[in-house]
Amino acid sequence: MASLSGRDLLSLADLSPKEVQDLLQMATQLKSQKLKLQCNKVLGLLFSKASTRTRVSFSVAMYQLGGQVIDLNPNVTQLSRGEPVQDTARVLDRYLDILAIRTFAQQELETFAHYAKIPVINALTDLEHPCQVLADLLTIKESFDTFAGLTLTYLGDGNNVANSLMLGCALVGMNVRISTPIGYEPNAAVIQTARSIANDKTEVILTHDPEDATKGANVLYTDVWASMGQESEADDRTPIFQPYQINEQLLSLADLEAIVLHCLPAHRGEEITDEVIEGSQSRVWDQAENRMHIQKALLASILGAE
Ligand code: CP
Ligand code: NVA
Repeated sequence: MASLSGRDLLSLADLSPKEVQDLLQMATQLKSQKLKLQCNKVLGLLFSKASTRTRVSFSVAMYQLGGQVIDLNPNVTQLSRGEPVQDTARVLDRYLDILAIRTFAQQELETFAHYAKIPVINALTDLEHPCQVLADLLTIKESFDTFAGLTLTYLGDGNNVANSLMLGCALVGMNVRISTPIGYEPNAAVIQTARSIANDKTEVILTHDPEDATKGANVLYTDVWASMGQESEADDRTPIFQPYQINEQLLSLADLEAIVLHCLPAHRGEEITDEVIEGSQSRVWDQAENRMHIQKALLASILGAE
């Protein structure tokens, strides 16, 4: 069983390859109900951006573990009236057992984690979305049983999901190709970290050519072209990102057994077509369900559930 007792998860790079494998195994056992765990703890959800999946899957996971959840919308806390993060963090620390934060700057998450002694989980920042990618890895493992020799191709914006995917693939020993328009590449420091984790055993490739990136891939993955906070750029981005759309023509270049993933919410007709997301190779609903199982494993492991 994974033991992450008392730890923060701010970046996927906070986990070792073995810790990722242990979490995946624990999530599989929790999902099949071979493993049942309980903990009587309180999770706070401090979300400054919209969320359906992350909010609900964290909440249900905590309830199923026997714990409680407090939904802390920043608009109804004193944060919205300027109370400093470092003060809020030290107060929440006295009430809660664990805190999941969704915000803009990674730095704000890190300040929370610095001032709060309780474990802090990254529930999405502009830089990373580690819980999403743990669920993605679980979905890939369910489809292929192994990561060895597989290639994941991500098409679109080099955003938080792309950053965490590079780290996640490197951690489980899967090749990853990130294909973006020029100027929309993933974070340079995260690319370096992913390459150092991969250690020349697997590839972390960046390319501007979507067709080349897709050829023979086992997993095709995409996300919105404009993330939360970038809505004003959406119209300008549409023509730039069009060649990166996952449609049936692009999908035909991937391996015949390839699966298609999307973290959701999806913009059909933009980054993915209706035919592909509803098609036989799509695994997006299992992927969304897996958010709950992997986060239950994560909470149980951090909180020492028994
Ligand atoms: N994929 C994901 O994080 O979805 P939500 O924004 O709905 O939480
Ligand atoms: N990249 C997207 C992911 C949403 C789950 C965003 O940050 O809005």
